[in-house]
Amino acid sequence: MWPLAAALLLGSVSGGSAQLTFNATKFVEKTICNETVLLPCIVNNLEKKEIKTMYVKWKFKGKDIFTFDGNQSKHYASDDFKSASLGSHLPEGNASLVMNKNDAVPGNYTCEVTEANREGETIVELKYHMVSWFYPKENILIVIFPILAILLSWGQFGIVTLKYKSNCTSEKTIGLIIAGLFLTVIVIVGAILFVPGEYSAKNASGLGLIVIPTVILVLLQYCVFMTAFGMNLFAIGVLILQLLGYILAVIGLSLCITKCSPTQGPLMISGLGIIALAELLGLVYMKFVASNQKTIPPSRKAVEEPLNAFKESKGMMNDE
Ligand SMILES: *[C@@H]1O[C@H](CO)[C@@H](O)[C@H](O)[C@H]1NC(C)=O
Ligand SMILES: *[C@@H]1O[C@H](CO)[C@@H](O)[C@H](O)[C@H]1NC(C)=O
Repeated sequence: MWPLAAALLLGSVSGGSAQLTFNATKFVEKTICNETVLLPCIVNNLEKKEIKTMYVKWKFKGKDIFTFDGNQSKHYASDDFKSASLGSHLPEGNASLVMNKNDAVPGNYTCEVTEANREGETIVELKYHMVSWFYPKENILIVIFPILAILLSWGQFGIVTLKYKSNCTSEKTIGLIIAGLFLTVIVIVGAILFVPGEYSAKNASGLGLIVIPTVILVLLQYCVFMTAFGMNLFAIGVLILQLLGYILAVIGLSLCITKCSPTQGPLMISGLGIIALAELLGLVYMKFVASNQKTIPPSRKAVEEPLNAFKESKGMMNDE
């Protein structure tokens, strides 16, 4: 009885002192945005803190994937983990493994560290975590605003063709229809490619197809104004507003399209929102103001009324 207890006690004491212990991390996550992946392995009770006395071995699925022999200052990385390396803080107990994202397969990795006659091991699991390129709300707005703007543009076209048929030469009308159809198809294709998901070349090109062609809306609105009402200050104001929206959207796009975790989504979305707003203002003007006016170009009164309203609303916005 006594010898057994003594042996157990001795074993636990000697085992404790001969063991290296770790700041254990159960798992780390990698996302599509990680260029490199770090698997933490930190020993917290090294004694000598000399690289010469140390040996590090990383294992994956029972195979050695990386070893470092401090005595000979030599390391080995297996074929599937060619990019693996240790940082420079090994003497302080940091045996974390850094590797390229392509080598970092999810799974359980074992880190085994030896210092002279003491050793220990820890297991860290690498998990894959899906992250959406844009936030869900941003995804919705990015698709909704351009589609809304296109619908409004078709609405403008409808009003103009119904009310001012005689004034539209058929060539112009056909041109507008073709441009409108072209834009509609491109944006629908873009929206299909831009299904919410991780950052990818497909998503990025979808976003480009949604945002870049919206400049056609500015041209269409310009043509509609020119054809049916002639240029007036209200039209110019709306077109400038829309062009500004487009510039914002394109600047936002250029800041987002190469970023795995974009931060300028709101800038791009406000640009798209302004484009849709300008389209709405144009439509409202055509429907309720200009279309009551049978003479073309409209009389001064018809121009000034909406213009004053526009100025007032701008003034109110500035006052705030
Ligand atoms: C991936 O990148 C994130 C953000 O830069 C970082 O916090 C995380 O530790 C990285 N994951 C791994 C496994 O290296
Ligand atoms: C890794 O190990 C943990 C704990 O033992 C286990 O729950 C998990 O399923 C393992 N993961 C893989 C990918 O084998």
